[in-house]
Amino acid sequence: MAEKARIAILISGRGSNMAALVYAAKSSDCPYEIVLVASNVPDAPGLTLAQAEQIDIFAHPHKGLSREAHDTIMHDAIVRSGAEYVVLAGYMRILSDGFVRKWADHMLNIHPSLLPKYKGLDTYQRAIDAGDKVAGCSVHLVTAELDDGPVLAQTEVAILPDDDAETLASRILIAEHQLYPSALARYVTREADPDWILEQIRQRALALQETHERASFGAPGWRVGSQTTGKYFAYFAQSHHGEASIALLVKTTGLDEQAALIDVDPDLYYAPKFYGKSGWIAIRLDTGRTDWGHIAERLYKSWCQVAPKRLTRLIDIADQF
Ligand code: GRF
Repeated sequence: MAEKARIAILISGRGSNMAALVYAAKSSDCPYEIVLVASNVPDAPGLTLAQAEQIDIFAHPHKGLSREAHDTIMHDAIVRSGAEYVVLAGYMRILSDGFVRKWADHMLNIHPSLLPKYKGLDTYQRAIDAGDKVAGCSVHLVTAELDDGPVLAQTEVAILPDDDAETLASRILIAEHQLYPSALARYVTREADPDWILEQIRQRALALQETHERASFGAPGWRVGSQTTGKYFAYFAQSHHGEASIALLVKTTGLDEQAALIDVDPDLYYAPKFYGKSGWIAIRLDTGRTDWGHIAERLYKSWCQVAPKRLTRLIDIADQF
């Protein structure tokens, strides 16, 4: 199994979601490990549990400190632990923009409502008062806006006729304990998920001028130019032509460049079947270390090879300066 993702959990209270994550992580096939439980409340009950489970803990009260200063102390402790992801589990602090930026796409939260409904506090009573038939919980990425980042997963929980905020909260909590470990597992392994990888390629290919998607022999492909005369500049190959890897196929300037690339990094590049003969290169996307900036650059270079002159002319002029 690939190396496990290292997780720091931030809590302020009882830490039952933290406990759910800690116990999920004990399973040998869990793709993450908990390397730190940190809190702004030194006597948070969750810290005692984490310590008993032999997990490193860290606590620093926020009293008397600016938001930025406290966040920096927490950030430094997280970095020291070696964590790659921050998982908020009942961490009752609004985070500074700087902290959120440092952990962009690497920080998750769980919220007891079906987002985008009922951000903030008092979610259970608000759902009951609105006459909703279902409530629930959401795992989302953390962005600067409170409870606003992209939702990764949700569980619906029925509202019973005689529910009050407390009874509803206790059932939602059961759902939270199921949802958080599985959503986190899926998120940290997303780079191995072919659908996620395809989406990354798609976004970058379609961001180039005058492009559209068209499948070719079952493989997603992208063309530049009109629907009728467009030319392919990229293909997404997943077990294509019997090859085991997931790869992006793009055009190089020719066989010399293709050979040079393979020479530099034979684990990353190979000459694809059929297309290889005409100077296309395959870039593996399943190494777990994809450099997405590099992928965007290769897509662009390939696009330049086949884009109509009227699109590349301006770029050629700009290149002379
Ligand atoms: C949970 O209800 C969670 O949705 C919210 O804070 C609460 C934390 O509970 N973000 P616990 O500390 O995990 O038991």
